[in-house]
Amino acid sequence: MTAQSIPHHIAIVMDGNGRWANKRFLPRIAGHKQGVDVLKRCVKACDARGVRVLTVFAFSSENWKRPTDEVSGLMDLFAFALSREVPQLKADGVRLHFIGERQGLSARVLKSIDQAEAVTRENSSLTLNVCFNYGGRWDIVQAAEKLAAQGIAVTEPHMSQAMALSHVPDPDLVIRTGGELRISNFLLWQSAYSEFVFVDTLWPDFDDRALDSAIAEFSG
Ligand code: IPE
Ligand code: IPE
Ligand code: MG
Repeated sequence: MTAQSIPHHIAIVMDGNGRWANKRFLPRIAGHKQGVDVLKRCVKACDARGVRVLTVFAFSSENWKRPTDEVSGLMDLFAFALSREVPQLKADGVRLHFIGERQGLSARVLKSIDQAEAVTRENSSLTLNVCFNYGGRWDIVQAAEKLAAQGIAVTEPHMSQAMALSHVPDPDLVIRTGGELRISNFLLWQSAYSEFVFVDTLWPDFDDRALDSAIAEFSG
């Protein structure tokens, strides 16, 4: 594969963890745990292929509506996985950014976010944006509010600068795993011109081969 056919920025809706667990008669959280390991591998695989930015949807504004034990399990897993993985991510040159509404997140989660961003701030290989408590509509509204508060005209370039992913170019490729053909309030503004690849593979089964085939579909 030539460098030219490798997307600069890949965004992923990591869907299907619950079904992966159900198929194995495991609790849904087991699927989310497996999903973290798959994300770790995916970060390495993207870096090895020359992808510069990876943006993943980890927890949506709507996911609060899930049963409280699943929500608290996801919050615990998020904080735990971050503290466990950040040293290796730092060593690998990965820079972390967290995208989403901070209000409503626990002190523990906020602390793990702040630490992960601070520790990886100087890194410059792959940029990993984790969308957590994120919604595309929230993003558009917060951008418009920011402009209004500063008395700046609402234009496309000003909006783009005020949006949550203004530090990276728009995604070239958006992948959704898990077989659903919808965007579920992901990067509504930023994916205006992205290629979409929808795959049936459940996120915990998404391996290097699945990544390569999504990239090949994009290149074609
Ligand atoms: C995606 O997997 C992960 C999160 C939303 C946190 P799901 O939990 O939505 O898994 P399915 O879609 O029910 O299989
Ligand atoms: C999208 O998956 C959100 C994340 C992957 C974090 P969902 O499973 O929450 O989306 P719906 O419910 O299928 O729209
Ligand atoms: Mg789902």
